[in-house]
Amino acid sequence: MALLKVIKYGHPILRQVAQKYKHKSEIDQNFIDDLIETMKREDGVGLAATQVAVPRRLVVVTDTKELYIILNPVIAARSVKTETEVEGCLSLPGLQGRVERHLKIVVRGLDRFGEPLEITASNLLARVFQHEIDHLNGVMYIDRAEPESLNWVDYVEDEAGQEKTQLTPTQIEEIQEVFRERYNQDLSELQFEPAEALVEEKV
Ligand code: NI
Repeated sequence: MALLKVIKYGHPILRQVAQKYKHKSEIDQNFIDDLIETMKREDGVGLAATQVAVPRRLVVVTDTKELYIILNPVIAARSVKTETEVEGCLSLPGLQGRVERHLKIVVRGLDRFGEPLEITASNLLARVFQHEIDHLNGVMYIDRAEPESLNWVDYVEDEAGQEKTQLTPTQIEEIQEVFRERYNQDLSELQFEPAEALVEEKV
């Protein structure tokens, strides 16, 4: 197994609409294993293929008890009830923001062998699925986050030597600046904005 490189905000592939799997022979089992390994190693609860620069419709999600692998996922049903909670993303390290998501969803797609799969997810698991499926459509959580809720997260020690989180408010322009300089200097072309049609697609 190999660890894959997680691309960061500003990389144009994060704004692409990922392609469907059309035939079982297209499913690369080694790639799926690498994606899972990468998610675990990065301490993530979800990872979309798009985030390792492979624009195919595949996500892996975990609630620490179970691991879900789903290809061509679609949200078949959504609860009317929503919840707004803090999210982060491996493609946006050091940042968090509050996002409204449906509390419960039904996800349909294919398992790693190309067989039909349906998952009913609630709470955090439902949130992670919505976040990851967004990635397949070139949408990132900061597109949906309440603008005033965007914060840099730092871990600092207080006087007693206890580690605590420190939040520093930020906004989109500053985030783009940081990601241009810190993570994407080797890219000749950056794309921070989502494709226009996708911005309108709200919860
Ligand atoms: Ni993400």
